[in-house]
Amino acid sequence: MEREVERRLTTILAADVAGYSRLMSEDEEGTLARLRQAREIIDRLIARHNGRVFGGAGDSVMAEFPSPVQAVRCAVQIQQELERFNADLPEARRMLFRIGINLGDVMVENGNLFGDGVNIADRLQGLAAAGEICIADGVYQQVRNKVPVGYERLGRYSVRHIAEPVLVYRVLARPEDVRPLRRALARLGGRSRTLALAGVVLLLAGGVAAWLWSGLLQKAPRPEDFAAIPDIAVPTRHFRVENPAELSEADALTIYDRIIDDMVAAYRKSGDPSAGTYYRWRRYNTVPYLSATHGRRYVNNYANARAGAYGLYGRAGTLPAGSILAKDAFEVTENGDVVTGPLTLMEKMEPGFNPEGRDWRYTMILPDGTLFGTTNGPGSGRVEFCQNCHIAAGDEHDHLFFIPKPYRVRFLNPGEGGD
Ligand code: HEC
Repeated sequence: MEREVERRLTTILAADVAGYSRLMSEDEEGTLARLRQAREIIDRLIARHNGRVFGGAGDSVMAEFPSPVQAVRCAVQIQQELERFNADLPEARRMLFRIGINLGDVMVENGNLFGDGVNIADRLQGLAAAGEICIADGVYQQVRNKVPVGYERLGRYSVRHIAEPVLVYRVLARPEDVRPLRRALARLGGRSRTLALAGVVLLLAGGVAAWLWSGLLQKAPRPEDFAAIPDIAVPTRHFRVENPAELSEADALTIYDRIIDDMVAAYRKSGDPSAGTYYRWRRYNTVPYLSATHGRRYVNNYANARAGAYGLYGRAGTLPAGSILAKDAFEVTENGDVVTGPLTLMEKMEPGFNPEGRDWRYTMILPDGTLFGTTNGPGSGRVEFCQNCHIAAGDEHDHLFFIPKPYRVRFLNPGEGGD
């Protein structure tokens, strides 16, 4: 008779180093030495929280815990201790771990664990940004009232070979993650404030906006997201709008027409060939629209001729190598100042360039023309957050999100490309 496979319900923690291949290519020996030091911290904390390392290779660690509470506590401490460890290192040398935690049923063989429960933990880790922790809904339900940190609902994400999308939460354990939220929630008053101050569960508004990126969170000064930009480069002020709260579509278009030449002139300084030419490509949005995900700025989407299929939107399929998508941005502040935002680019490279990211190269150029980062190039780690979010669009959409329907230009000859 066949022996039944041993199974158990357990909490899986998956961790790996963000931008590890870049770190290795820049300084192999130093990176290995720092990885060893970081691993000592991690292994010690795992043991202290009754965890057990069962797998992992190179920069990755897989561990299991008897309880989700112990796993999340451990992860929070790991990130805190690593933050101190990294504080002494130059930015380009930092060992930032991404951590995912799942509660699930796994198969056990010779002390090793397999199955969906493990794969989901791995996917959650991939969704976490550098220095962050993402947990599955099952874990969240167990820890929300027991581990006093903030939790932000990120939304449902698909996992390869698993039918049901997984509901994902981000753990907000760093003071700078929580402070802006408290401030924002304090404005809401009453119940929310009590909740926030108690530091229990910071649940942001549901729906699509939260699924992608909460507007509130953008105020958090995290170096790797759009919000950090004003700290790095003071945007150019162009002119003032009378009634910023009641900006019409026509106003947005007029503003854009007035600033586009200056914007391009600044972006062009980056030396990126697309930065000076993108505005002559086909534009796919009818008017500048507010993008919740791209820093709450007004954005425009362009595609070069090679990327003409972009105009088929949901039916675009996989775009060919050489396709370039460009998205510029401007902001109208509460007091009516018009300031330019960053230029973001996605370029489809040759197969093998970035297999995990469907060979897209993400680039961000700051409003003053400084190159903020580009995948597998200067500042690569700084643009990892682009892929971490875009991957959620799924392989079938080639990691593209497209434009919200009301703003899409409908072409009679989509796919033929612009000029
Ligand atoms: C939190 C999610 C998120 C992050 C982070 C993000 N994007 Fe996007 N991106 C979107 C969404 C959603 C759209 C389409 C809707 C819109 O414009 O808001 C989009 C659209 C784009 C487009 C137009 C192509 C398309 O998918 O339709 C480009 C180019 C782009 N993003 C580049 C970047 C770059 C470069 C970064 C990093 C600097 C980045 N994005 C970070 C969510 C994100």
